[in-house]
Amino acid sequence: MTTSGQTNSFAQLVAEALALSKIGEGTRAALLSSHVYDERAMRAYSDALDILGADWVRVIMAPRTQGTSFANPVQEGSFVTDILKSADVVVRPTTAKGAVADIGMYTPVFEEIIMSGTRWWDCSVGGSETLLRKLFPTQAMIDRTRAGAVSMQDAKTLRITSEAGTDLTLSVEGRIGHCQVGIVDEPGRWDNFGFGLVATAPVEDSANGKVVWDGGDSLGELLGSYSALLPEQVVTHFEDGKIVSIEGGWVARRFEEYLAGLNRPEFYRIAHIGWGTHESAAWGGPGWNTAEWESYYGCIMLHLGMNIFSTLAPYNGLHGTSRPSIAWPMPSHAGGCLLRHDLYLDGEKILNAGAIVPDGLK
Ligand SMILES: [Fe+2]
Repeated sequence: MTTSGQTNSFAQLVAEALALSKIGEGTRAALLSSHVYDERAMRAYSDALDILGADWVRVIMAPRTQGTSFANPVQEGSFVTDILKSADVVVRPTTAKGAVADIGMYTPVFEEIIMSGTRWWDCSVGGSETLLRKLFPTQAMIDRTRAGAVSMQDAKTLRITSEAGTDLTLSVEGRIGHCQVGIVDEPGRWDNFGFGLVATAPVEDSANGKVVWDGGDSLGELLGSYSALLPEQVVTHFEDGKIVSIEGGWVARRFEEYLAGLNRPEFYRIAHIGWGTHESAAWGGPGWNTAEWESYYGCIMLHLGMNIFSTLAPYNGLHGTSRPSIAWPMPSHAGGCLLRHDLYLDGEKILNAGAIVPDGLK
């Protein structure tokens, strides 16, 4: 496979990205958006599907509300669910995310669609023209990420440490080594464009030790926008998989209050942990986005909450057991990313202070 991403045409750029996902002549594709969408982006994605000869339809999710909030527009047993399940692939460009009724990926109905065999190519984060160019997957990124997922899947224990004081041990025995490379080239595979990372859902009650979130790390949307880097340390202590105490100053108190206010027990457990592999991802700064946040080369992403997200494809999905106590309006899944950490799989050093160590995984 060769990768490119070097063309002046937005539609041609999308076509090159779609071709990596084996979308071509006769592929039955559903071009999905919420009821608010970017007209120019949808035109480029439509043209790209035509360039490749796909057999495609536009699917616009009708807005649904629950009380005073938007609700998941894709409900179990609904017409749109049937349409998405019958597609070879769902292509989902950038939409007005967060401001409108939109499907949540950590929902049982999302899993039902993927487990029907539908591939899902999500571009809602990395599918803008700018990010398609910046984060176009390279073969080196794809290779190191897939190799990392194999190492993750073979491992029994995972440990992270840092100079700032992190020391956390988890069991990953029997769990899937999950990779994201921005491509959906196998039946049932889910991926999102612009991402490069290795992850796994650790055994839910296995985390013991502490994580020191240092100044400059991120606790993501749990403490505001993704671009808000921590101004001071927050220390989370884990016992038998659960956060049992949170240490630090005013930021720690805010985090503690926020978690308590959610009143969702699943937020105290780790959903997934792993490392970023994308050499083009930046950390912080203007235009920063969640693709770069999770994919930053050598960072550790540690997310809390539910992890039921499963797929049919190898090295894909979390396949965990932590279910949501409330399905909507907000999925029980969020977390942060850590810099300058070490990561060990069965005692072998994979990351050293944020640098990937083994030759095959660099
Ligand atoms: Fe996550």
